[in-house]
Amino acid sequence: MSNFWHWWIVLLTSACLVLVTWVLFSTRKAQRRDMTDETTGHAYDGIEEYDNPLPHWWFVMFVATLVFTVGYLILYPGMGKWAGVLGWTQVGELKTDQLKHERRFAPEFQRYAATPIEELIKNPKALKMGERVFINNCALCHGMDAGGNFGFPNLADNDWLYGGSADAIKTTIAQGRRGQMPAWGAVIGDKGVKQVASYVRELSGIDSGASQDDLDAGKKVFSTTCAVCHSADGTGNYALGAPNLTNNVWLYGSSQTQVEYTIRKGRNGVMPPWHDILGPEKVHLVTAYVYSLTHKAE
Ligand code: HEC
Ligand code: HEC
Repeated sequence: MSNFWHWWIVLLTSACLVLVTWVLFSTRKAQRRDMTDETTGHAYDGIEEYDNPLPHWWFVMFVATLVFTVGYLILYPGMGKWAGVLGWTQVGELKTDQLKHERRFAPEFQRYAATPIEELIKNPKALKMGERVFINNCALCHGMDAGGNFGFPNLADNDWLYGGSADAIKTTIAQGRRGQMPAWGAVIGDKGVKQVASYVRELSGIDSGASQDDLDAGKKVFSTTCAVCHSADGTGNYALGAPNLTNNVWLYGSSQTQVEYTIRKGRNGVMPPWHDILGPEKVHLVTAYVYSLTHKAE
């Protein structure tokens, strides 16, 4: 708040208070006389108005609100930049509430954090808490049912970029991941892109309509250029997050146009790291929830 607005508020508020007080007391003095039957002469729909002073209790109430106002403005923020002698703030109140909340749940979180994921998925209450963390933080990208979206992997289909063990999932969530599919357009040329796109689609059992010659050429490109990451048979590599290209599960679409686009321009999916945001206990709980989607407790 600039100094101008600070003083603007202070002066305006003080002036109003003084004015109201003055009006209250000055009219009070003018009316200090006995009760009469005299009317003010005003009549509204046949209702007339006595010319009598304000009832005493009413006057006292006005004074009380004035005293309250002054007290409030000394204790709490209200007068421009004045923070109030109590030092109360909205942010402070929120922090206190959050801290109280965290203290209340801390023992429960810690007990769950000490339980292995494979055990934790047998505990419906822990999974419920994990689901809540998921809905608040992850559903935005992965969907409410973890079913994924274009560019955001399905977490419920047991097809993994980085591995589906409890440890792999936890590492993904805690540290984040960056998919690095390079752009190949300039390296293998437009024809090469078309041929290898047809080839990898056929790996998933899609009929690409390409000639056998093109598919053979695509296979050659694949083994020289792509197999390093996607492995020789196209089943992918968890260590690099290179997807399995043989199971007809697609992160970036399965049409010839989409697959060509992926190969020509590359893709760089980013999964943000959550360790610092959620803390280790909540990461553990949400890992259990994600793990439970594809692993049933025995
Ligand atoms: C801003 C969007 C975004 C948010 C929010 C997000 N993710 Fe992700 N997540 C991604 C993307 C993108 C990938 C794929 C990364 C890649 O392409 O290499 C991914 C990958 C993953 C994977 C790896 C899947 C696999 O097949 O190996 C897991 C597990 C995962 N996310 C869980 C979570 C959880 C749990 C949360 C919430 C705490 C979360 N994500 C929040 C975007 C997001
Ligand atoms: C340096 C390692 C690397 C190389 C080499 C590589 N890829 Fe990839 N590829 C990846 C990664 C990592 C992803 C996942 C990108 C992401 O998660 O955003 C990917 C994704 C893809 C996808 C998308 C799959 C889907 O589910 O939508 C296709 C298709 C693909 N690659 C084909 C190829 C082809 C064809 C080549 C050779 C011309 C190739 N890749 C070379 C690492 C590689």
